[in-house]
Amino acid sequence: MPDKPFIIVAIDGGAAAGKTSTARALSERFNLLHSDSGSHYRAVTAELLRRGVSAGDLPAVRAALAALRLGSRVSGRTSLVEIDGRTTGDEIRSAGVNAAVSHFAAIPEVRAFLLAYQRGQAAVARERGMPGLVMEGRDVGSVIFPGADLRFYLHADPSEKARRRAREGHHDAVAERDRIDSSRATAPLSCPVGAISLDTTGLTLNEVIEKVAAPIAARLAAA
Ligand code: DC
Repeated sequence: MPDKPFIIVAIDGGAAAGKTSTARALSERFNLLHSDSGSHYRAVTAELLRRGVSAGDLPAVRAALAALRLGSRVSGRTSLVEIDGRTTGDEIRSAGVNAAVSHFAAIPEVRAFLLAYQRGQAAVARERGMPGLVMEGRDVGSVIFPGADLRFYLHADPSEKARRRAREGHHDAVAERDRIDSSRATAPLSCPVGAISLDTTGLTLNEVIEKVAAPIAARLAAA
């Protein structure tokens, strides 16, 4: 029997570029597992902060990572990261995590720690018989899944992004996070070579979804 068709969709972009709403909608429409790689960085950040570890203390970061066990729990079509058997919740969106996450994400050991877990999300989707995975983040199409079937890069004007976060009621310095995420040495935020780049400024969410959904539908039809 030939393998069932399986597609990987990578959605990268800066903070508040519209990745999560788009990825969720695609996951519903095409029955893809949705995995938010930003939430993996947030969960590790929240846990290290809880343990009193700061991003500037590399030996403490290394020691704490060695003791962390990651798992996945699927709720609907969303894959939620578990740390030591506990699912993380709203605490990963706190102001403290917003302020610290880019600093932890710039540490190569933190990135290496999460890479295998993130690649393993494809197996989580397959085990559930789903036809694919949609993962959002900063380096999905460049580092995690450079061979993804479809890779998108969403971006928007800084003023539009600040307005979106404010509307969501989050305190989040998106411009500062984008600056740190784009300038780090390891896997910086950038449009992956060959990715479809989409400026979401002035587009409604539905317009963004339709633009991204069209090539996915074509790919699934051809599979
Ligand atoms: O998508 P988000 O804003 O929740 O991501 C939180 C942080 O995680 C972001 O500031 C940078 C980091 N991140 C990353 O470095 N690589 C990814 N693939 C996803 C997120």
